[in-house]
Amino acid sequence: MRARTMAALLGAGVLVLTAGCAGPQDADPQDAGDDKPLVGVAMPSVELERWVTDGDNVSAQLTSLGYDVDMRYAEDDPATQVEQLQAMIDAGADALVVASVDGTALSGVLADAAAADIPVIAYDRLISGTDAVDYYASFDNFRVGVLQGTALLRGLGVVDATGRPTGAAGPFAVELFAGSPDDNNATVFWDGAMSVLRPYLDSGVLTVPSGQVQREQGATQGWSADLAGERMASLLGPYRGGLRLDGVLSPYDGISQAVIAATAELGYVPVVTGQDAEVDAVRSVAAGEQYATVYKDTRQLAEVTVQMVEALLDGGEPEVNDTTSYDNGVKVVPAYLLAPQEVTKDSYSKVLVDSGYYTAEELR
Ligand code: GAL
Repeated sequence: MRARTMAALLGAGVLVLTAGCAGPQDADPQDAGDDKPLVGVAMPSVELERWVTDGDNVSAQLTSLGYDVDMRYAEDDPATQVEQLQAMIDAGADALVVASVDGTALSGVLADAAAADIPVIAYDRLISGTDAVDYYASFDNFRVGVLQGTALLRGLGVVDATGRPTGAAGPFAVELFAGSPDDNNATVFWDGAMSVLRPYLDSGVLTVPSGQVQREQGATQGWSADLAGERMASLLGPYRGGLRLDGVLSPYDGISQAVIAATAELGYVPVVTGQDAEVDAVRSVAAGEQYATVYKDTRQLAEVTVQMVEALLDGGEPEVNDTTSYDNGVKVVPAYLLAPQEVTKDSYSKVLVDSGYYTAEELR
């Protein structure tokens, strides 16, 4: 409900939040009219549910610490995001938090940020090809992929609950989906998943009847559910003919739900993985449809990010726990990586409801 209200507020793509009693002048992002630091928060799209929750968390936490917040959603369009960042820089932002649409498209505008001494934090998605990104707050994205690959194997019965091979020889027919090619995370998720699936593909326990085994072939531009649904429908031929589709590697809940919808005509639900613990997906997991998702606590991600902003604006050094994994082509970006967690029918209530991430009512 909270997320939906926020989404409605975001219709205009701009939200300025202020702490304390906001005067009328505070409604204008160009001039917040006070001496509180202004933090620009660039988010990709309100269309993918998770980013609404992320934006909600980040802006609420920044606001409660007394920052002015200029948050904008880019409608999943890289050029729009560049314009929005430029506007934040022009408005005198003191720091930028950026969840990129296309992590490779921001070098120009971020050079302007660097010239104005504005620190930049890459949020969840790496920003590539520039030295004008100071820190990266994210999850252990390789581990996300490992959890997805392992869930697929377990759902098929190839490994047991402890991850040990059961000896099941299959062959199991699977199809493979990847995320958006302009999002570095998509590559890391894929690599993580393949690190556990590859041996079984090589030995023939898993087969991919479409023959589409490269990340580029399974890619989903913009993480679009519509595109994923269309691709799944286009692969149904052999399965309509009687071959059982045992499983689908899906990197994101929006894609998972589209895959499940596209395969409905088969009369059974294959083992489908996911990510983000979006409400519809969790309901589907609870109902025994989608096999698993990966929960990433966006409240924690917001916390880490806000701590980075605070440290930077206080002239200090943000805490990081990884200084090797995220080479953006120009520099290794120091990162704080949080732990993702698998969620299944058996664990969703404990992991998501007991932790207060969702109420039981929200999942009904
Ligand atoms: C990725 C993110 C995933 C998922 C996906 C689609 O960058 O790490 O959690 O949300 O985008 O939005």
